[in-house]
Amino acid sequence: MSSLETSIELKGDLLTGMEWSPAQVRALLDLTAEMKSHPERYRGTLAGRVLILLFEKPSLRTRVTFEVGVAALGGTSIFLDHTAARLGEREPIRDIARNLERWVQGIIARVFAQETLDELAGNASVPVINALSDRFHPCQALADFFTLEERFGGLRGLKLAYVGDGNNMCHSLLICAARTGAHLRVATPTGYEPDSAVVAEARRVARETRGKIEILQSPEEAVAGVQAVYTDVWASMGQEDEAAEREKVFAAYQVNERLFAHAAPDAVFLHCLPAHRGLEVAPEVIDSPRSIIYDQAENRLHVQKAILHALLT
Ligand code: CP
Ligand code: NVA
Repeated sequence: MSSLETSIELKGDLLTGMEWSPAQVRALLDLTAEMKSHPERYRGTLAGRVLILLFEKPSLRTRVTFEVGVAALGGTSIFLDHTAARLGEREPIRDIARNLERWVQGIIARVFAQETLDELAGNASVPVINALSDRFHPCQALADFFTLEERFGGLRGLKLAYVGDGNNMCHSLLICAARTGAHLRVATPTGYEPDSAVVAEARRVARETRGKIEILQSPEEAVAGVQAVYTDVWASMGQEDEAAEREKVFAAYQVNERLFAHAAPDAVFLHCLPAHRGLEVAPEVIDSPRSIIYDQAENRLHVQKAILHALLT
């Protein structure tokens, strides 16, 4: 075992991202860099292991990057499509977990309710990995900070603005920013702020890492001078009924040329995808050379390979 691996000591579940200390996030990002540079050293580390992908919502990136990542490490994945029926409808979630733990070495789940993940994790002895819930999207945020580190060479003091809905993506960015010592400014409309408990936790951790968390309303104030501007959809999966109402509320939060002009001259644009051009982001920004959305998507693969390696071997 390399010193990188021993220093991580990451075992158990990845349900929120708050399980991990700043040192553990640092070690995971270092392991990601090592695995991205030397994939051949990690071939076969999941040989003989089977991972379940249990998805209640659609996915392109998360599904493909986990399936490709498991295969690259020599493991096997089985996709269980639960988009037609929520977990718990056919049989109790507890029974699903207690069956799966007898057959497989890990559960990767995309769910509507965070409580579903908690129930899976509470009843399965194998690691449970959050592949997106209503509250968090840790794998995406870890890939995003890895992408920012590649771009800017470091994360301490890096200035990032998140503009839009205080949703799962916003929560996970707060958690990662705090742990990496980045400065994150969030701008949301009134009533759409991130959860105050997540903000309080991020501020507590940021005090240790000299990070900084600011919650604002003005998108211009949030973006002023930052090196990276992030946005996400205004209506997340499960909020389709609110889409029309949200388009009105969020209209002033579109990341377009006018807003982007407030950022630093070398600023980059990020989005977890899928994106709605003409709503939360203008085509002139997302389809410009400043956009690093496909680097983010590529790095989902590398960061998730590192997560799987760390939790399962
Ligand atoms: N960013 C992301 O998680 O994409 P998918 O919904 O396609 O998995
Ligand atoms: N906030 C979005 C992220 C999609 C990757 C959603 O939950 O739909």
